Amino acid sequence: MRIEGKEYRTIWFENNLVKIIDQTKLPHKFIIKDLKTVEDCINAIKTMEVRGAPLIGATAAYGIVLSIIEKNDSSFLGKSSEKLIKSRPTAINLKWAVDRMMKKLSGKNNNEILKIALDEAKVIIEEDISFCKNIGLNGLKIIEDVANKKKDTVNILTHCNAGWLATIDWGTATSPIYHAHQQGIKVHVWVDETRPRNQGANLTSYELNEEGISNTVITDNAGGILMQRGQVDMCIVGTDRTLSNGDVCNKIGTYLKALAAKDNNVPFYVALPSSTIDWNIKDHTKIPIEERNVEELSYVEGVDKENKITKIRIYPQKSKAMNLAFDVTPAKYVSGLITEKGICEASEKGLKGLFK
Ligand code: MRU
Repeated sequence: MRIEGKEYRTIWFENNLVKIIDQTKLPHKFIIKDLKTVEDCINAIKTMEVRGAPLIGATAAYGIVLSIIEKNDSSFLGKSSEKLIKSRPTAINLKWAVDRMMKKLSGKNNNEILKIALDEAKVIIEEDISFCKNIGLNGLKIIEDVANKKKDTVNILTHCNAGWLATIDWGTATSPIYHAHQQGIKVHVWVDETRPRNQGANLTSYELNEEGISNTVITDNAGGILMQRGQVDMCIVGTDRTLSNGDVCNKIGTYLKALAAKDNNVPFYVALPSSTIDWNIKDHTKIPIEERNVEELSYVEGVDKENKITKIRIYPQKSKAMNLAFDVTPAKYVSGLITEKGICEASEKGLKGLFK
């Protein structure tokens, strides 16, 4: 997708370096950063310079490549893969990508391993782009239906950033929106701010602005009243891990949006590539929910009048805080799962029908 008119992907490999867009500086500064070692990749995932389930999976795949470049040694590679998997716990794409890379490399000799790793990382990336594109084409039909009936702008609410910045290109939740916009359908996006990291305000709004799509940032608590007023035609969100029974784990606050949507008969869709499905965990209470540093709550970051990025504390130092990063929306609140293979019911039957 585009930034200042120029096409970018969120990650690429060049001269034995991994290049990323540092998302901790957006939207104030556009900085391309070099990752030179596997430790750099781990750090970028932990600090959320790269974030979003598919993108952290891709970064981990390149982390394996950098680990081989650093030291072509199986014990070092094994340790690197374990550290990569542990760098963030909730998004299943991370483990999925590392396991896939390690399976491909198993039993390969030292002379060929680097090329095989690089080729596989590239396949993961190209596959994600095509999955996200197809999610968009499948989701487009839902938006088209509403537009045809309504004969007016389609208002879509989204939470967090499940945009192209969270993937390699297109995004998941945003892909149907980008496709609709390209087809000339009038869309407007309600962008949840997404406290505490503000991925909605900082990233989703930014990327929609860059693509010329009308959007309005709202506080996380505003979705309910907008739905009551009939100002939301549908919600589309992303996911970090979807269980085979259709339960959806996504950014904290997603569950409350789904409850409000149910109460107001607003369709609530979840967009995901198959790499986000966890076929093993059957009970959502077993999903590891990331708990991040409370400073993300007590300090807010932005630019001052001189355009300098600055951080300020917003509540008493003594106050206790808790920073849960994800929640689970039970399948019964999900109107449908938009995947690269089509749209299905949020259930085991639905998912297995698409992914045999
Ligand atoms: O903590 P983040 O910013 O990595 O969380 C991202 C999300 O929750 C996204 O909605 C999810 O990863 C889907 S990305 C296509």
